Amino acid sequence: MSEAILEVRGLHKQFVIHAIGRLVPALRGVDLSVAQGEHVALVGRSGAGKSTLLKCVWRSCLPSAGEIRLRRRDASVTDLASADDRAIIDARRDDLAYVSQFLRPDGRRTVLEVVGRAAIRHGLEPAAATATAAAALRRVGLAEELWGTQPGVLSGGEQQRVNLAAGTLHAPRLLLLDEPVAALDSGHRDTVFGIIRELGRAGVSVLSVFHDTEAVRALADRVVVLRDGQVVAEGTPGQVLDRVSAA
Ligand SMILES: Nc1ncnc2c1ncn2[C@@H]1O[C@H](COP(=O)(O)OP(=O)(O)OP(=O)(O)O)[C@@H](O)[C@H]1O
Ligand SMILES: [Mg+2]
Repeated sequence: MSEAILEVRGLHKQFVIHAIGRLVPALRGVDLSVAQGEHVALVGRSGAGKSTLLKCVWRSCLPSAGEIRLRRRDASVTDLASADDRAIIDARRDDLAYVSQFLRPDGRRTVLEVVGRAAIRHGLEPAAATATAAAALRRVGLAEELWGTQPGVLSGGEQQRVNLAAGTLHAPRLLLLDEPVAALDSGHRDTVFGIIRELGRAGVSVLSVFHDTEAVRALADRVVVLRDGQVVAEGTPGQVLDRVSAA
């Protein structure tokens, strides 16, 4: 595969739990890279640091040490671990997308407005943003009669599809997925798998976490195993998952 889009080097993240005066070392020197068009899936037990790693790349979580080098659309490189807020906003607008497991409540906005706002953050004018949001909601199969409701009243699976629509509005350079299909029934899962594959074919790199190995086998080119905040194995899904399930 071609050049690395993402290179993570020596990444550390410690959380401070003030109430009990304790430090939680969530990431302890992670090295990892993702090539252009490559889909890398993170696996590991609950608490291994998978979500923390994705949040550090999205920079909703500030790393304690290390580098997160993102090769940008204009071929420059931004270190997301040390970039200032302005550069993070630019990187999110042009090159990154993040689909978290849970939809954050967004005031009184409707589903269409929530996804439309994501399109505006990518630089679209309001009218074009609404059209793009509608197309994205249609693609994830969310019934049009739900577009005018507030996401908070939707089912878990419907909320997840709103999240996915907002995260896959544009083809980013790097798509971060944290358990995006956990609440979906099999029909909608297949739809979402199709969207992820299509983005991959368009050259989008993906760093993902899935709660089941079936999704990893279906979608990932490479698997990286985290344990206690460190990379302990990597390889193709076949190599790694057979070893993990045999252990
Ligand atoms: N905001 C936080 N404050 C304190 N500790 C945190 C915080 N977020 C995560 N942690 C801790 O960091 C470690 C890694 O958590 P993380 O959410 O990355 O795990 P994970 O691999 O995604 O697990 P899961 O499979 O359950 O989602 C855990 O011990 C967790 O308790
Ligand atoms: Mg997690």
